[in-house]
Amino acid sequence: MTEAPDLVREPGAPKAAPGTLRPDPETPAAVSARGICRNFHSPDGRELLVLRGVDLEVGRGETLAIMGPSGAGKSTLLHVLGALDEPTSGTVRIAGRRLSGLADTEVARLRNELVGFVFQFHHLLRDFSALENVMLPQIIAGAERAEAESRATAVLEQVGLGERLQHRPNKLSGGEQQRVAVARALVNEPPLLLADEPSGNLDTETSKRLHDVLFALVEDHGSALIVATHDRELAERAGRVQRLVGGVLEPPD
Ligand SMILES: Nc1ncnc2c1ncn2[C@@H]1O[C@H](COP(=O)(O)OP(=O)(O)O)[C@@H](O)[C@H]1O
Ligand SMILES: [Mg+2]
Repeated sequence: MTEAPDLVREPGAPKAAPGTLRPDPETPAAVSARGICRNFHSPDGRELLVLRGVDLEVGRGETLAIMGPSGAGKSTLLHVLGALDEPTSGTVRIAGRRLSGLADTEVARLRNELVGFVFQFHHLLRDFSALENVMLPQIIAGAERAEAESRATAVLEQVGLGERLQHRPNKLSGGEQQRVAVARALVNEPPLLLADEPSGNLDTETSKRLHDVLFALVEDHGSALIVATHDRELAERAGRVQRLVGGVLEPPD
């Protein structure tokens, strides 16, 4: 008898049956960060030490909620983890790929293929339909149009928007816009999904529906999720909750 094959999918590989995903010791963490510091210069010239040595590791299929007061540096940390910003010092690896020392075009390519982002405000392209917004990351990654369209349709159906494919963002409700943003973030099956206050702009009921969709898709796609939030209901859905205080992550609750 040979060992069962590992069921951790690489992006684009065939889907495992639901519930069969398990951590693979050979697969690098979805994201690992060591000694992350990020300083900013305040307008009066002082140096702000926002992140002061963050260490973090999140495996495929794991979910982490980062809590902490406004101004603690949660958004700064997510931007660094997702290669939208460079740390002042420290290293980040996404799916084992070290981000520092790469050309901008290479960082952009890795970001498109390895990281999905959901922000508090959807950032959808307003002149494009929901379908086109979800097709775009795939086209950028080199997918054929027909393939991108069928996959975007399937993911939009998963988030409950199969009847809204041709709607432009301004014809969708706030909750629907965020569900399109979740579909767009996950369509390339990135190992890492980062969500920054994803329901910060929604009412309680709409938030709950978004959280249902977010966690169901993350589980189905086998991505790791890191979500920054003030919302206890959302944080408690995550496998792990850590607070960002004084520029470092406290141990899990
Ligand atoms: N580009 C920037 N330039 C200067 N200061 C910044 C910049 N981005 C964030 N900050 C400062 O860093 C701190 C942390 O901000 P942020 O990461 O947005 O916190 P949070 O998301 O936890 O509310 C704040 O004091 C903010 O003003
Ligand atoms: Mg923030």
